[in-house]
Formats: sequence, structure tokens, C-alpha cells
Amino acid sequence: MSSASSATPVSGSGSAPAKGPAGPAGGAPAPTEAELLDFVRETAADAGLVTSLPLDPGGRTWLRLNGPGGSEAWIISWPPGTGTGWHDHGGSHGAFATARGRLTEHSLATRLPTEGWKTLELADGVDRERELTTGRGRAFGPHHVHQVLNDTGSEHAVSVHAYYPPLPLMRRYSRTGALLRLEQVERPGEWE
Ligand SMILES: [Fe+2]
Repeated sequence: MSSASSATPVSGSGSAPAKGPAGPAGGAPAPTEAELLDFVRETAADAGLVTSLPLDPGGRTWLRLNGPGGSEAWIISWPPGTGTGWHDHGGSHGAFATARGRLTEHSLATRLPTEGWKTLELADGVDRERELTTGRGRAFGPHHVHQVLNDTGSEHAVSVHAYYPPLPLMRRYSRTGALLRLEQVERPGEWE
């Protein structure tokens, strides 16, 4: 993954412990995908916050935010040519929105088995691509696999992300044609 210089977290260290999904019996209801999408869109429209994020032409930068309902949230900057690589979100659902510039998302329109495999051959037709220009966002479910990149070649991008529950882990994949390979499982603190 691209190296990055970390900006100062807004709230505590980045490795918030997962509290487990809060069901109806756990007090406040868990934030839905739609609520997280509202949050990332509104936050992406906060020009003061967006411009407060230091930009580094050498790599991504980020700030931890207070997401709604105990969710994990970040604002992230992306120099041209940077991206996440393929990954999932360890069973968390979430949303993200572009606050500046343009990002491209590649995703898989299929549900992968989460355990018991190292390499999978993807079927034809499962690839999706969408452009997220400034102000646009998307929500995703707990089994979403994607990569996000700034392929503009010239313009720095900024985006806002929220996840619930706070990410318990991320599975990282490499991709060669139709072959997807599980490379590693990262725990909180390992992706910052
Ligand atoms: Fe992601």
C-alpha cells in the first residue's frame, strides 16, 4: 500500500476497539448504511474541515473523525496515482464520499466466501466501476470488496469514510486478471 504520513488524530488513537455490533438491546441502534452515507456527504461538504487536512504530494494523509453512533470515520487525501488496493472491511458496513477531486471505485458484484480460501477465480461480469466526483458518495454492505484510487493523474482528491462497527479487520487481496488472492488480514492499527 502507499506510504502515508499521518495527520494528528482528532479523537484518540486510530485503533478504536471494536465494541461488537450494537443491536436493539445494546442501547442506541447501529447507524445504517443510509445514515453513514448522510454523514459522509455532509462532512464532505464541510469546506473548513476539508481544507484543514494537510495534503502531501508524496502520499495519503488522514484525520480521524467522530462518526455517528459509534462509527469509525476518517477524512483522507489522495495524491494522483494513489489507491487502496483490493480489500474488504471485515464485516463492517459503511459509506464514503468525495469531498474534492475525483475518485474511482472498482468493486465486485458478488459475495465472496470470507473463510477457507486463498485464491478465487472470479466469474465474468462481476466487475463494477464507478466514478465519484466531488459531492458524490456511496454506501456499501458488510461483504463489500473494492479498491479506491485517484487515477486522475493530476488532481489531489479528498474523501470522507465511515464504518460501523469500527473496522475489526481488513482483508487485503491481490488481483491478477480474474484471480483474486488473499494476501493478508490487517487488524486495527496496522493500516495506519
Ligand atoms: Fe474500503
